[in-house]
Amino acid sequence: MTVSTDAEWFKTAVFYEVLVRSFADSNNDGIGDLKGLSSKLDYLQWLGIDCLWLPPFFPSPLRDGGYDVADYTGVLPELGTVDDMRDLLTATRERGMKVIIDFVMNHTSDAHPWFQASRSDPSGPYGAFYVWRDQPEEYLDARVIFIDSISSNWSFDEVRGQYFWHRFYAHQPDLNFESPRVLEEILDAVRFWLELGVDGFRLDAVPYLIEQDGTNCENLPGTHEILKKVRKVVDEEFPGKIMLCEANQWPNEVIEYFGDDDECHMAFHFPVMPRLYLGIREGSRASISQILADTPAIPPGCQWGTFLRNHDELTLEMVTEDERQYMWSEYAPDPRMKCNLGIRRRLAPLVDGDRRRIELLHGLLLALPGSPVLYYGDEIGMGDNIWLQDRDGVRTPMQWTEGPGAGFSSAEVDTFPYPLIDSPGYGPEVLNVAAQQADPASLLHWLRDTLAIRRDRPVFGRGDFTDLGGADAVFSFVRSLEGTVVVCVNNLSATAQSVELDVSAWSTSAADVIYGSPAELTLDAELLRLSLAPYAFCWINLGGSGDA
Ligand code: NOJ
Ligand code: CA
Repeated sequence: MTVSTDAEWFKTAVFYEVLVRSFADSNNDGIGDLKGLSSKLDYLQWLGIDCLWLPPFFPSPLRDGGYDVADYTGVLPELGTVDDMRDLLTATRERGMKVIIDFVMNHTSDAHPWFQASRSDPSGPYGAFYVWRDQPEEYLDARVIFIDSISSNWSFDEVRGQYFWHRFYAHQPDLNFESPRVLEEILDAVRFWLELGVDGFRLDAVPYLIEQDGTNCENLPGTHEILKKVRKVVDEEFPGKIMLCEANQWPNEVIEYFGDDDECHMAFHFPVMPRLYLGIREGSRASISQILADTPAIPPGCQWGTFLRNHDELTLEMVTEDERQYMWSEYAPDPRMKCNLGIRRRLAPLVDGDRRRIELLHGLLLALPGSPVLYYGDEIGMGDNIWLQDRDGVRTPMQWTEGPGAGFSSAEVDTFPYPLIDSPGYGPEVLNVAAQQADPASLLHWLRDTLAIRRDRPVFGRGDFTDLGGADAVFSFVRSLEGTVVVCVNNLSATAQSVELDVSAWSTSAADVIYGSPAELTLDAELLRLSLAPYAFCWINLGGSGDA
């Protein structure tokens, strides 16, 4: 297979977030590593993944899952070496796959040499690398993000005798982007990884790069200026490489991160994610339809990143207070399931392991505008462990086989970074890749088959989106691209539903089902009528317009 030379490959790609530490252990020290990940690329290619996203694998004290970076251009020794990373990039390229890596621009670990130098030598070369103040009096309108753990964005440093600013944990001091030297250092690290061959970056926590008193210190113009400078370097020196931003913000704020096709190529669509769970719980499309109606058009060279789960809590920052309370009451019945403004659970347990709802959520993910970003383990319906600290309960070792170490590692299980899942119905003895690969009726095969249907149809990646409205319990929309028209009908409710959809705006000579088993399907007088079983969805190609 050859690597796509299409500069807009990301518009039709399927992404897969994989925690190196938790995926596969090559040297049996109990810790997943880059070589282990390389050994699993055939599996990921078989599944239909186009691009891996690797969260931080850099040297780090690991007090925030590696988002506390102590060296931007190294590899945490227990995960491997820069050469292992180069080998991984070669091996992915040989399979026609790509790799983006996390880049944590906003802050470093307090163990980073820059911070150590900054605290001990205020007038030295790193003195201004962080945001230092004599008193914690500025930026008080900025919210605290990790509300479970910290109460202030300022902490006092005994060594320097000043306060430093941090939007996350106190061991993650924010870099001071008012100092041009900070950006220069960051750009050097960006160049390092692009030269090594990565295909782009997932940019962590970008809304917080610049602070300004009297504002909430999010999405400020100076922050966008910084990102545009990064994009300029990427475009000029490494054309074709992408920037995907993590800005957990409302649609009208997020679209600013695309700029005028001169900032990020992609941005996660945070607000739509919780509404998919809300929709299937309420049996109502209202909230999903509303947020998509509120989502402005994006520049031609850009794409949304959509997702159901990731390595963090299922964030409820981008819903109303009423919706948040509803989500907590329905999806976090045990108080331990709450985490910050979210829920520390994986996809399958959130929907009681119900195949219909797991498939429906994926059906929405794959058909809505944007490139889907899957989370490792969700393809087999892996479980979680809410009793692990912070967000670790959704970061447990991948379950490959039923053996004692689940095929993740042959080391003693108590050396693993996190314990294997052992909750009833979710342990490796009943839930693993090997068993599901051997079973054509498994969730894994279902997802692979459904990804293959999507892969053959660029309309899902590049097409226009039209909400067809209609019955509240059924979310129906059209994706269309150059004569290809696909109607996607999703029964969000626990009861069978019949719908009548006006598709007169499109060519309607024929209706071919490309996914699903709708009953009583008819097309006459430009009305599409069909029935769907509880939580079922279907994709219908209209007008005999062809598949691609
Ligand atoms: C967002 C990351 O996804 C999360 O895991 C991390 O804790 C914060 N940014 C801080 O870097
Ligand atoms: Ca290892």
